[in-house]
Amino acid sequence: MNGLTATYKHFLKLTPKALVNWFAQAARDLPWRRTRDPYAIWVSEIMLQQTQVSTVIPYWERWMKRLPDVRALAAAEEQEVLKLWEGLGYYRRARHLHLAAKKVVAENNGRLPLAHEQWLEIPGIGRYTAGAICSIAFQHPVPILDGNVVRILCRLLLIRGDTKDKAVLKRLWDAAQDLVSHAPDGQHGRFNESMMELGATLCIPRQPLCLLCPVSELCAARKAGVVNQVPQIAARATITPRYFAALLLRDGDRTFLRQRAANEVNGGFWELPNIEAPSPEEAAQLLAKKSATRLSEKPIKIIQHRITRYSMTLSVYQPDSPTRKIITRIEKIWPDARWLSTEDLKHLPVAKAHLRAIG
Ligand code: ADE
Repeated sequence: MNGLTATYKHFLKLTPKALVNWFAQAARDLPWRRTRDPYAIWVSEIMLQQTQVSTVIPYWERWMKRLPDVRALAAAEEQEVLKLWEGLGYYRRARHLHLAAKKVVAENNGRLPLAHEQWLEIPGIGRYTAGAICSIAFQHPVPILDGNVVRILCRLLLIRGDTKDKAVLKRLWDAAQDLVSHAPDGQHGRFNESMMELGATLCIPRQPLCLLCPVSELCAARKAGVVNQVPQIAARATITPRYFAALLLRDGDRTFLRQRAANEVNGGFWELPNIEAPSPEEAAQLLAKKSATRLSEKPIKIIQHRITRYSMTLSVYQPDSPTRKIITRIEKIWPDARWLSTEDLKHLPVAKAHLRAIG
């Protein structure tokens, strides 16, 4: 602590307490905030990576009902785990969670790690998530830093540099560590949660609600009148369009679907047979060629789907005249596909865009 300026010491003394007190009365009642069970918190933190709170709530509740502890998760079939994640996207998160649960049961008798460094060894867990789990479940004084916390700290400390820059990031992690270390005893997790909450509700990217902020008096950006300019918002990554044509075959209640290979994106998920091409027209032509079938002239449905930096268009076609002969030919062209009933689909995971295509 030597070498710190008096202003920074003052800041460290007041900020954590003010935020924890504010959190005690302002916190939203989120289901994972009613537990200190590290497994439950681990699941919530993985779901909350790249997904909004309101979307996560029903998924987390369903998951915890069906897989209430690490042993239940380890024993579950992968298809069931993916089904519980269906629609949340970024399915690697679910697969990592499942593998990690199996490992914890096989190697550590089902006991979850306590130490931050051990959590970091688990696939899918980085410094932020390890910090969130250890602070919230065990009240360890370890920091978190995500987009929300970066924004709060840049404003409080008036950090104007590029927040992707290594030196700036180090400064931010150090500040997050200093702050959580100064949280009242037993409140380290509450302090980290208070920062998540402040970033989600008041210290928002544009037009932050400083009048309601419990630490506005301590905020250097506010003092300088530059809250809206800090941090600098990076230019958005360019969005790349991608075009797919999919074949929808139905036989009564059954739909013709194939399963993606384990090593592909969305591995294990079921989807309509489909083809990607540089334009919608080429995708349709290639699909007709591959299935050796004339397709409906226009798609019966067009599904738009955004994922990370891709904007996907999935055009759904049916054969012009789906005779028995044509269906048999198509079955041979996609030998890995199956006819799945509505009942089957209650248990098997289907990629989100395809779920909309068949729905
Ligand atoms: N975002 C990441 N973790 C969170 C949590 N525990 N509560 C609310 N939002 C979050």
